[in-house]
Amino acid sequence: MATSFSRSEFIKHLSILGTGAVLSPYLDQDTKKPNNRIRVAVIGCGSVSNMYLPHLSKALHVELVSVCDIKPERAAAQAKKYNVPNQYPHIDKLLAGAPFDLLVNLTNMQEHGRLNKQALEAGKNIWSEKPMANTYAEGKALLDLARQKNLRIWGAPAVVNSPQFAFMSRAIQEGRLGKTAAAHAHYGHTGPTWSAFFYEKGGGSLPDLGVYNLATLSGLLGPVKSVMAMTSIVTKERKVDDKGNIQVEAEDNAMVIMDHGNGVLSHVQCGFNYFDPYGHEGKGQERPTISIWGSEGNMALVGYDWAPFGVDLANSWTEPPKRFATDTGTYVWEQGATVVAESLLSGKEPLINAEHALHVLEIIESARASQESGKRISLQSSFPWPVVK
Ligand SMILES: NC(=O)c1ccc[n+]([C@@H]2O[C@H](COP(=O)([O-])OP(=O)(O)OC[C@H]3O[C@@H](n4cnc5c(N)ncnc54)[C@H](O)[C@@H]3O)[C@@H](O)[C@H]2O)c1
Repeated sequence: MATSFSRSEFIKHLSILGTGAVLSPYLDQDTKKPNNRIRVAVIGCGSVSNMYLPHLSKALHVELVSVCDIKPERAAAQAKKYNVPNQYPHIDKLLAGAPFDLLVNLTNMQEHGRLNKQALEAGKNIWSEKPMANTYAEGKALLDLARQKNLRIWGAPAVVNSPQFAFMSRAIQEGRLGKTAAAHAHYGHTGPTWSAFFYEKGGGSLPDLGVYNLATLSGLLGPVKSVMAMTSIVTKERKVDDKGNIQVEAEDNAMVIMDHGNGVLSHVQCGFNYFDPYGHEGKGQERPTISIWGSEGNMALVGYDWAPFGVDLANSWTEPPKRFATDTGTYVWEQGATVVAESLLSGKEPLINAEHALHVLEIIESARASQESGKRISLQSSFPWPVVK
């Protein structure tokens, strides 16, 4: 049975998202949420689910229907903690079980392509943690399949949603830096300690960490035309919680140079051997991690691009640099699935774009190809740009 509810309460809850979803003005008596919600299933109940599930569970337009993990005790624990009615130990059972609209894929990186494909074939929309697939070709086939079936697929990261990204993008478009020439971004820590997949083939610091900077710089400076890169493995053996001592197979150190066309060049470095007092959590990092230079100004993003605090802009010979965009609003890096669920409901296109995620995947693949061949690699993909209009 439906009932009316206080509009101020509704808007307060919507502010979690920072956008205006079009929702039915009726509340479900049991959940106190609107009746027309997006039914969400989460697959992969490991580390990052502890960030996604709280965000999803607070969103008025989301109904958490199911959780799934091949380690069933993890699904059971998250189902209990977040009050999710159904739990499954395998994707086959999840897809055959309680109906849902959006699959949120938080499994090992190497599993994403396979599971995303199976879910699309079963008629589900997808939010995938990065990367969307193991290769650009596999990811492009997923997007084609989604389009053919009138479904949507999106991939992390959500960095383009931050107010700091929007400020930087507008500053470039408005010419506040003059002619844009060069940019640098870096992100690293000493590496995850819990799961081996980060270090196995298909893992690596590029899809786990560099992916944020690659999305930010391509989002700000435009689609990448070609890439040259060097990658290496610094720590050959590691100890991780799920498999003990392992040999590291994927790069844990990477330097990528990108050509954005019109003479604009940028550089991303990332790795799992970076001493960083702010650690994996990143709490307290307030130094710039992204810098962009132009002929009449430069700017630096304060903090990490996935958790920024402001933008320092210098474009005067006489005035000191000023800090802008210090209000982060409702942006948090784990909001991606909640935001696309809202888009499914409202029909409003989010800033996050599947072609952008695939372009970043092609940059990563090209960086590895450049390391292998010693050559500059041309890219075939592109995405709608500028991201912020
Ligand atoms: N941990 C973080 O802080 C963090 C942050 C941002 C993004 N990510 C991304 O999130 C993803 C997961 O990372 P994590 O740190 O949570 O890893 P994790 O190892 O903690 O969790 C992965 C979970 O997926 C489950 N799983 C693996 N294959 C499965 C399958 N076929 N079906 C069902 N469940 C399966 C595993 O049992 C495990 O519980 C990765 O893509 C990672 O890059 C992680």
